[in-house]
Amino acid sequence: MEIEGNIILITGGAGFIGSHIVDRLIEENAKKVIVYDNFSTGKKEYVAKDGVDIIEGDILDYKKLEKTMKNVDIVSHHAAELEVFTGIDNSIHDLRTNIEGTLNVLNAAIKNKVKKLIYASSGGVYGQANYLPEDENHPLMPHWPYGVSKLSGEKYCLQYYLLHGLPTVSLRYGIVYGPREWYGRVLTLFIKRVLEGNAPIIFGDGNQRRDYVYIDDVVEGNILSIKNEKAEGKVFNLGGNNSYSVKQVADIVIELINPDIKPIYDDPIPGESSKFQPNRKRLPGELKDFILDSSFMRNLLNYIPKTDFKFGVGKEIEWVKRNLDIWNTLPRV
Ligand SMILES: NC(=O)c1ccc[n+]([C@@H]2O[C@H](COP(=O)([O-])OP(=O)(O)OC[C@H]3O[C@@H](n4cnc5c(N)ncnc54)[C@H](O)[C@@H]3O)[C@@H](O)[C@H]2O)c1
Repeated sequence: MEIEGNIILITGGAGFIGSHIVDRLIEENAKKVIVYDNFSTGKKEYVAKDGVDIIEGDILDYKKLEKTMKNVDIVSHHAAELEVFTGIDNSIHDLRTNIEGTLNVLNAAIKNKVKKLIYASSGGVYGQANYLPEDENHPLMPHWPYGVSKLSGEKYCLQYYLLHGLPTVSLRYGIVYGPREWYGRVLTLFIKRVLEGNAPIIFGDGNQRRDYVYIDDVVEGNILSIKNEKAEGKVFNLGGNNSYSVKQVADIVIELINPDIKPIYDDPIPGESSKFQPNRKRLPGELKDFILDSSFMRNLLNYIPKTDFKFGVGKEIEWVKRNLDIWNTLPRV
């Protein structure tokens, strides 16, 4: 469906991915963009601009959500609890935000006769890879509560499509990176360490591979999913069509910031802290390799990720240099 002339509500619209989608929706001449966010991690400054209504609200507040969704044509659902450690330590909170919250969004969408809903899912639904790259038919065996709750959201989206005729699209993202990325994952840890003159710390042998998808490509995938009717009732991988090992990521960050630095290797027990970086714990259930096959989306929607990884990392570094205070003050450190 068209974006031009329509009203779009985006939950979690003040976050990393959501705020970039907001920028693009304005460029695409949306009639209005409504950001619905509780600002637990999102930032008003990302979305305070013409054409955007900012509503401070929680997806667990059904009444407010339903009221805010009046006259909305399209919903993009990006609000979530993303912290894997939080999900492990407080799985009820993860469940409530990601499952109950998603059901609230779906119910409010039905009530308000929304015409399309995009759901931000995650490649985390697969768990440890049985084969690579992982396509949409790969077994679903999430390793963490986060993956279970994101998968539940997807399944409810499909049910609401089948039962209520709400056209939903679920997008299983790879590791999204670029300006406004939140601090906490490997690429961001490496960038901050190297900018501060310290060595990046690699856990294990550093050969674990990951699928990195640049923010502009994720935004493009969202726009294609809104515009193309063929996407309705579908679940797509949305990756970067690449894979980089943790070691390669460290090398690229070092090359772009300070080639004199050498990485350090550490092998903490999962759940324990690094001896070189005591505030960084190793994830239990760490994935060996995580590489998405995004060819279903390419074939059906003509999704072609365009951003070279080194170029994208360079863009993120430029942004971080101007905004290090954001990484120093975000709750996830
Ligand atoms: N970043 C990635 O690599 C990645 C990968 C896979 C999936 N995703 C999914 O993409 C979506 C956006 O992720 P992001 O990286 O932009 O994270 P983010 O933390 O930057 O954005 C999430 C936004 O949701 C808001 N929010 C959180 N809980 C809320 C609640 N209860 N009610 C209202 N708003 C709430 C936060 O304030 C924030 O603005 C999430 O659904 C996440 O699961 C992200």
